Amino acid sequence: MSGGLVDTLGRPVRDLRISVTDRCNLRCTYCMPAEVYGERFHFLPRAEVLSFKETARLARLFVEAGAVKLRITGGEPLVRADVDRLVAMLAAIPGVEDLTLTTNGLLLAQRAERLAAAGLRRLTVSLDSLDPAVFGRMNGRGASPQQVLDGIRAAQAAGLGPVKVNAVVERGVNEHTAVDMVEHFRGTGVSVRFIEYMDVGTLNAWDRSRVVPSAELLTAIDARWPVEAVEPAYRGEVAERYRFTDGAGEVGFISSVTQPFCADCTRVRLSPDGKVFTCLFATDGTDLRAPLRAGEDDSALAARIAGLWRARADRYSELRADLAGAGRERRVEMYRIGG
Ligand code: GTP
Ligand code: 5AD
Ligand code: SF4
Ligand code: SF4
Repeated sequence: MSGGLVDTLGRPVRDLRISVTDRCNLRCTYCMPAEVYGERFHFLPRAEVLSFKETARLARLFVEAGAVKLRITGGEPLVRADVDRLVAMLAAIPGVEDLTLTTNGLLLAQRAERLAAAGLRRLTVSLDSLDPAVFGRMNGRGASPQQVLDGIRAAQAAGLGPVKVNAVVERGVNEHTAVDMVEHFRGTGVSVRFIEYMDVGTLNAWDRSRVVPSAELLTAIDARWPVEAVEPAYRGEVAERYRFTDGAGEVGFISSVTQPFCADCTRVRLSPDGKVFTCLFATDGTDLRAPLRAGEDDSALAARIAGLWRARADRYSELRADLAGAGRERRVEMYRIGG
């Protein structure tokens, strides 16, 4: 189906991440710091955001180009009304093997059943700490971990599994609560993945000293509950996974700073306003909304997608050490293209 479409480094397109809104009900310090994104911040006007029909059409063209995995992200995808309608449209695309969503979980308790009924199979919830003070500070709105835990429980009850939890770890901020998080979720069927704090976007106060290398957390966890490495489920899997030897499940690490995984990166990102980004650290995207709204047919749009993928050479995380922050002031913000 993909007709052998690969980029300049031989990587196929396998994974489309669709950001459905740039809005969010949280203000995580590493993503949309509250002092920058106040209540009056100018988010994308409605008319600039793709309709679900437009989004599903582009998604189908990416699937025809080789994508088998679709992830709905944001911003916070559940703040977009009726996102379950998009789930149903994406689930109906022939060739989609995996359909999932990344959410901060705040609205999940009231939405989980509708999402499952629409055809969502599983989801990932972001939760950085179970300590209310630490989490409240990191999410910039004082939101409570209990609300997220209620959402996770509702997702499990609706059959949306396995649920994964993503926790960004920042030195001096929440690293001391990581082991508690593992303790809480061990044996519940939820796997926790710790993400190294990244220099995405232009607005967080990233510097290397704030990164907690995954190896450090692994040592601390293994000392408490011994683990063994699990083989990757597929080429280019983002998380390195470990299983508890006592059978209580898995824990994972996403180490894009200390162990970049660009060599196998098969991910492409679609922004809410219809731009395609071939790297999380890109400065510019390729606009597909204008040709789409000008009435281009599928084959012309497919040719654009093939052209931009064939030209792709991105491997930012591998080059990070050499670039030393160069070009950072122009980088796309993560909430615009989804994690
Ligand atoms: P699963 O299929 O559920 O295992 O998803 P995944 O492994 O793709 O993980 P997920 O989509 O939840 O991504 C987790 C986090 O990893 C993201 O929120 C990002 O912080 C980071 N991440 C994902 N993809 C990339 C990438 O291409 N580059 C970099 N540098 N980080 C990434
Ligand atoms: N570094 C690492 N992960 C990040 N995320 C957002 N910003 C960053 C960053 N600077 C993660 C969120 C969420 C996902 C969508 O992306 O925590 O899990
Ligand atoms: Fe919102 Fe997710 Fe960004 Fe936090 S990381 S501000 S939840 S989009
Ligand atoms: Fe892919 Fe860019 Fe992340 Fe490397 S830095 S893994 S190329 S998105």
